[in-house]
Amino acid sequence: MQSAGKQLRSIWPGDDRARVHIIDQTLLPHELTIVTISTLSGAARAIETMQVRGAPLIGVTAAYGVALAMRADPSNANLNAAMSRLAATRPTAINLRFALDAMCEHLLTLPESSRAEAAFDRASALAVEDAKLCHDIGVHGLGLIQDLAKNKKIGEPVNILTHCNAGWLATADWGTATAPMYMAHDEGIALHVWVDETRPRNQGAALTAWELDQRGVPCTIVADNAAGYLMHAGKVDLVIVGTDRTTASGDVCNKIGTYLKALAARDNGVPFYAAVPSPSIDFSLESGAKIPIETRAAREVTHMSGLSAAGRRETIAVARPGANAFNPAFDVTPARLVTGLITERGVVAASREALAQAFPERSGHAPLMPAASRAARF
Ligand code: MRU
Repeated sequence: MQSAGKQLRSIWPGDDRARVHIIDQTLLPHELTIVTISTLSGAARAIETMQVRGAPLIGVTAAYGVALAMRADPSNANLNAAMSRLAATRPTAINLRFALDAMCEHLLTLPESSRAEAAFDRASALAVEDAKLCHDIGVHGLGLIQDLAKNKKIGEPVNILTHCNAGWLATADWGTATAPMYMAHDEGIALHVWVDETRPRNQGAALTAWELDQRGVPCTIVADNAAGYLMHAGKVDLVIVGTDRTTASGDVCNKIGTYLKALAARDNGVPFYAAVPSPSIDFSLESGAKIPIETRAAREVTHMSGLSAAGRRETIAVARPGANAFNPAFDVTPARLVTGLITERGVVAASREALAQAFPERSGHAPLMPAASRAARF
């Protein structure tokens, strides 16, 4: 993604194809620091500590993690160990399983001697595929923004609200929810984005606002609790969010707080869309109630991190020491509250029928993983 005149990527392989480079997203927006990963455990830790995060990027990082493992030892035993380690990093985003399945399916057909090179190629191909999916989501989502822009006076912006970070930092490029915004901005459509801060980890304030600022897209950070007020006051034309897992029936799992935005949107007649690349769809699940919801450390709720006035990274307590806290990281928005899903194949209803029609090759196939690879795994 072009960012403040520089070409930036969320992940890329080293020239020696024995390493991968990432942006440490825990340090943004204050520091743009590149971290190099050269081992499977380094890749797994980067996902767990959220140096990389966002469903599609978690998948691509895991794919490179497999490639690094194959560089060290291309045996079946090590492949299985790598799959198990990476699969255990974060539970909610289905893209992780999609990427691991793709790697496993490919590598098991190959002799051990060619696995390391092939794994790097396949991981890079997954990144390219992800960027293309996001690009196509942008093209389809752009139509929604163009339609809203037609009813605006000259110079009056289309106001979009987004939650968390479903931007290029969360994907191989473009982002999912942000792709239509970037394309509308590039087309010269007046646009303004309300960015939910997204407590407790503040991906909106720290990452989405940074991304949009770097690209010159006008945006304003708001406290999570402000969204209902903004919608009630007529200041939001459209909500676009990402997803970590969308079920076959169109239930959308995304960052905690998304459900509340959808409720407020419904009550105020604001269209609510999720940007959903097909690797984020779990056709094996009918109901969102079955999606495993990650619970993270209570400390993320009781403490906050940021830059002090002296320019030092600091963590401060916002609750009394020992206060009880609970930190579910995702929630599920039922399909009935979702106006539509912006997929790489077009904007479709959040329903089993519409998803099955858009992705006939995936629907009806419960497991993502083909039988041959399933037998060899774990
Ligand atoms: O906990 P995170 O930061 O990995 O959560 C990210 C989100 O919830 C995103 O909205 C989602 O992964 C879609 S990213 C295109």
